[in-house]
Amino acid sequence: MIKGKALKFRGNLGEYELQITGDGSPTLHSEAFNESCHSNHGAASETRYIYVDGCEVLKRKPRCIFEVGFGLGTGWQESVKVHDDFIFYSTELDEKLVYWAQEQYKLFDKLVKENDVLIGTKKQAKAVILLGDARETVKSYKFERKFDAIYQDAFSPKRNPSLWTMEWFKTLLNLSSESVILSTYSASSRIKKSLFSAGWVLEEREGFMGKRSSTRAFRKGEMSDQLFKKLSNPKITPMSDSEL
Ligand SMILES: C[S@@+](CC[C@H](N)C(=O)[O-])C[C@H]1O[C@@H](n2cnc3c(N)ncnc32)[C@H](O)[C@@H]1O
Repeated sequence: MIKGKALKFRGNLGEYELQITGDGSPTLHSEAFNESCHSNHGAASETRYIYVDGCEVLKRKPRCIFEVGFGLGTGWQESVKVHDDFIFYSTELDEKLVYWAQEQYKLFDKLVKENDVLIGTKKQAKAVILLGDARETVKSYKFERKFDAIYQDAFSPKRNPSLWTMEWFKTLLNLSSESVILSTYSASSRIKKSLFSAGWVLEEREGFMGKRSSTRAFRKGEMSDQLFKKLSNPKITPMSDSEL
């Protein structure tokens, strides 16, 4: 927790304001996206529910986790609490934000920069943060392993549309292992349609703290008839790169 430090700071993309959420954990409000990184009910609790539990990290001990949007590192922090031997790939547009989070929360024992990538380590766990627009960086980076878990944690589709498209979800599917689980807070029908159109098998899951639902996606398996019918409706259109 911040003690006596400024509640605002300037990153590469603009100003951030620190906010303390309902469970006492911090989040940031981004000026550039005009949105906060987490639910105001609890940043750490939401991360545990949607991503760590949603991707079954404790049970499955995935060797490779991929996160969309590093932010202030809550996804990494909550993952290292329950798992210790894995590679955590993340993506971030704002390099200064990562340094700020490291300074505030000591996320890593060591953090170094190699070309356009930040590498952070904590005991056996290693984070590789690809700097720049994720749509570009994931295409050029040579990943050591396929993704076993995906934390789809961009800002909302309205504010951050390029990371919710059918094309983006196709790219992620191509980089994933057979047993991958993707989890996201989004309950939007269009986002489900984007995932579905990209070839993912979907499941609706209870949402965090009163939200109607959240979404999980798999490479294999069967979808409920009800969800299949809903997503087969041509009136629900996927988000597409061509709209951006
Ligand atoms: C909701 S926050 C992520 C919160 C983070 N997972 C955490 O637990 O602290 C979304 C993050 O995605 C980053 N972002 C937005 N668009 C991006 C893009 N095109 N490529 C890479 N990162 C992006 C933002 O800078 C922001 O830090």
